[in-house]
Amino acid sequence: MAQKRLYDPDWRDRWFEWRNGLDVEAKVPHERLTATAPGDIAFATSYQPMAIRTLKAVHAAAARTGIAFRRFVDIGCGKGKACLWTARTGRFPACLGIDFSAELVAIAERNRRIFPTPVPVEFRVANARDFRLPDETSLVFLFNPFDDEMLDLFLETNAVHFRRRGSVIAYVYDLHREVPAAHGFRTVHDDPKRRLSLHRIM
Ligand SMILES: C[S@@+](CC[C@H](N)C(=O)[O-])C[C@H]1O[C@@H](n2cnc3c(N)ncnc32)[C@H](O)[C@@H]1O
Repeated sequence: MAQKRLYDPDWRDRWFEWRNGLDVEAKVPHERLTATAPGDIAFATSYQPMAIRTLKAVHAAAARTGIAFRRFVDIGCGKGKACLWTARTGRFPACLGIDFSAELVAIAERNRRIFPTPVPVEFRVANARDFRLPDETSLVFLFNPFDDEMLDLFLETNAVHFRRRGSVIAYVYDLHREVPAAHGFRTVHDDPKRRLSLHRIM
């Protein structure tokens, strides 16, 4: 699935990587991803990291909900940039990133070990289709990781969680917004310029 226009780093992103000695910016094309469930690569987008300026917009939108989130969860965390940058801000008590590519999670782990954060960060190899969110109110971050079919499976797996915990989806490059809507989510924030929207079951 092509998403060339999405990769748009600026000096903040280059500085963040260089200053901290991280490996986060290099893209991994969709066809070079190796995953625990190779069949699911067909549903996936390429690895490319979120730009810091958009992450800031995500944090600002999350803060405006007034919800005391217990965790930032990145579904399709890749090399871990969104979790690590978020953890450094200390705005969430904990961060968790999952990705179905063991290779990318190994890089995220290496990044984590050299990047001290004031709150814990955890990376796990897991597939969104059967991954169950931790039982606490979370900001569930999705940077267009997969297509509508996989998004539907992820929401189905976590339907009880979203109803019970009121976790919020922060969806960037929100191509498949009709899927959360079909699962009973309402849009609580909409920023069409950045293609960022927040969704919640009320
Ligand atoms: C666009 S990248 C997002 C990177 C990261 N969230 C960030 O903002 O820096 C999408 C990621 O989703 C992962 N992914 C795709 N399908 C997945 C699935 N079914 N389960 C878990 N991860 C998946 C890919 O391996 C890729 O690393």
